[in-house]
Amino acid sequence: MPGPTPAAPAWNDATTAVHGRRGDNPYAAVAEPLVATATYYFRDSQELRTFRTAPEALAPAPGVARQEYGRYGNPTVQAAEARLAALEGAEDALLTASGMAAVTLTLLALLRQGDHLIITDDAYRRTRQWAQEWLPRWGVAVSVVPLNDFAALERAITPRTRVLFSETPTNPFLRVLDLPRWVELARAYGLTTVLDTTFATPLHLRPLAWGVDYVVHSATKYLAGHHDLLAGAVLGRRDALEPLRALQGTLGAIAAPQVAHQLLRGLKTLPLRVRQQTATAARVARFLEGHPAVERVWYPGLPSHPDHGVARRVLRDFGGVVTFTLRGDLEAALTFVDALRIPLMAPSLGGVETLVSPVALMSFDAYTPEERAALGIRDSLIRLAVGIEDADDLLADLEQALARVAARVRVGARQPLVSA
Ligand SMILES: Cc1ncc(COP(=O)(O)O)c(C=O)c1O
Repeated sequence: MPGPTPAAPAWNDATTAVHGRRGDNPYAAVAEPLVATATYYFRDSQELRTFRTAPEALAPAPGVARQEYGRYGNPTVQAAEARLAALEGAEDALLTASGMAAVTLTLLALLRQGDHLIITDDAYRRTRQWAQEWLPRWGVAVSVVPLNDFAALERAITPRTRVLFSETPTNPFLRVLDLPRWVELARAYGLTTVLDTTFATPLHLRPLAWGVDYVVHSATKYLAGHHDLLAGAVLGRRDALEPLRALQGTLGAIAAPQVAHQLLRGLKTLPLRVRQQTATAARVARFLEGHPAVERVWYPGLPSHPDHGVARRVLRDFGGVVTFTLRGDLEAALTFVDALRIPLMAPSLGGVETLVSPVALMSFDAYTPEERAALGIRDSLIRLAVGIEDADDLLADLEQALARVAARVRVGARQPLVSA
């Protein structure tokens, strides 16, 4: 009878997503058991003593660690971590309460007072806020440099620089990092690299293979894929994750076993979902680029994208998000999103339902017009996170919503709803 799957199976993604690096379980359950417990009992003091001195002797099944308390570990969480590690080609993974928990935990563990962090621009808004507004409170200096401006990056490096952080593709403009150059520069200066590849998923980019030290994901997005949970992950070498695991046990930003169980279920269809989302997004991007009501489209698969060349070299495919501006103002964007019937207007991305965001109002409403302009956030900017609906239905829906925008432009724009 076959036992648990091997540590590093040489399978393709679709197989790894379903079976990859699976611990055995005492029930021979095909679906990973949900071990919903906050703590674990010891049968007698001898067992407690053994746990302290030789915990491996108490493993409940091959590949499954004996646990003590829920904040330090859980078999269902471990199973999800193992599956994520297999998909990413990582030695180990750490599951966290959200993507932001993964980002904050990683940077807290790697940086200390007096250190310097360099982050690229066009990062997720909360990540940039964390770096620029919170880290300095603990004596960490932070510089923001334009993505792929390697002269600016090199100029920003000081003797105190410890960590380079970036995202790829970025949110919302889907900029694609020239990963080999970034890693080469980091190596030349002995810096640690942390890369958020939420938008790429392990299917389109395996940064560890390019020499990145830590990969971060918001598992809330593609990995879970159903808009029904929040989780995050950090992946890398086992020894590199040790301090993060120790800090997590103290900070407590863990993923619940129920969440890990749902994530494992979502992961099984990751390759199917992402293939569909990517194919539809590519069609949507081409359609939008040819539409007269659309001003500009950002999709790394389009030759017009500023990083198309890099994307072709670095990414296996271009993903399920398309960003664009409409000809018009904020009200054009709002007319468009209100006219759509299939996409739901919500923040987030990567799930089976297509989501649409009028970015200026959804995510940057608290910014002044000047701050929005500095970030390139135009009032008519739309982010479309494509789901798994039928592509023809989605295109027809986009077409009828764009016709409403075009009609509005013809009758003359009304006043903007908020300051332009
Ligand atoms: C690129 C990226 N990283 C991290 C996060 C944060 O993830 P979470 O919402 O799971 O905390 C997001 C969320 O939108 C994101 O887009």
